[in-house]
Amino acid sequence: MSLKIWNYKSHFFLSFFKRPHYAYTVYQAAIQALLLGHKKVSVIEFGVAGGNGLLCLEKYAKILSKKLKIEIKVYGFDTGQGLPKLVDYRDIPQTWQPGFFKMDYEKLRSRLTLAEVILGNVEESLKSFYKMHNPPPIGGILFDLDLYSSTKAAFQIFQTDSKYLLPRVRCYFDDILGNEISLTNEYCGEHLAIVQYNQLSPLKKITPVHHLLAKTFREKWYSKCFVHHAFDHPQYCQFMGNPQQEIPLVA
Ligand SMILES: C[S@@+](CC[C@H](N)C(=O)[O-])C[C@H]1O[C@@H](n2cnc3c(N)ncnc32)[C@H](O)[C@@H]1O
Repeated sequence: MSLKIWNYKSHFFLSFFKRPHYAYTVYQAAIQALLLGHKKVSVIEFGVAGGNGLLCLEKYAKILSKKLKIEIKVYGFDTGQGLPKLVDYRDIPQTWQPGFFKMDYEKLRSRLTLAEVILGNVEESLKSFYKMHNPPPIGGILFDLDLYSSTKAAFQIFQTDSKYLLPRVRCYFDDILGNEISLTNEYCGEHLAIVQYNQLSPLKKITPVHHLLAKTFREKWYSKCFVHHAFDHPQYCQFMGNPQQEIPLVA
């Protein structure tokens, strides 16, 4: 791997990037796609609002496309109208209210150069996403929909033909840790959506990235990084490591 790519990696581990978690997610998506023989990959942001996150995602996708020679498609999903109606306590109403984070769509569109914004409630827009966009396999998803109900609806993205997904989709859950007001836990918010998803799907699981959590110097965002494993994906068991694994014999 070239020195330039090493620089990119050290950048996000040292948190020089404005959003190192976005840089990490798109980087891991691109590397996995290449190791599995793909020439294109998709990355998604669920919950766009003003577009600051999507603009970052676009920027990192462009840098990596060039360095790694892979095409990276970027999609953003949002109602355009801010947060929808909350269902009940599971949507953490002590923190969120309907209508928060309205988007100025025209302003955002004039700044975007790569990403496609898909407007509408994800519950509806995901029904036709694959048919309308025929995206390259999805390798990374930034979840920032705030609500349990919206995150659960967004998990429809995983109910598709395996050609649309990499076997391991890198995920980031922005609101999984919460704060002193939300006090999020496994019974509400994004965390509950993950727990329920894992109960439903025997061969599809969303798990933390344990090796990041074991690092001596940890960044807060490491705890928000997860992976969607599709254990039944035809490429899940394809070897991606270093074939030179022999331990040299020391006399
Ligand atoms: C916190 S904001 C996103 C901020 C953005 N990711 C950033 O980093 O700048 C959450 C967004 O999720 C969107 N959202 C929440 N539930 C949704 C749903 N069911 N369908 C589509 N968009 C939804 C809201 O419209 C809102 O703009």
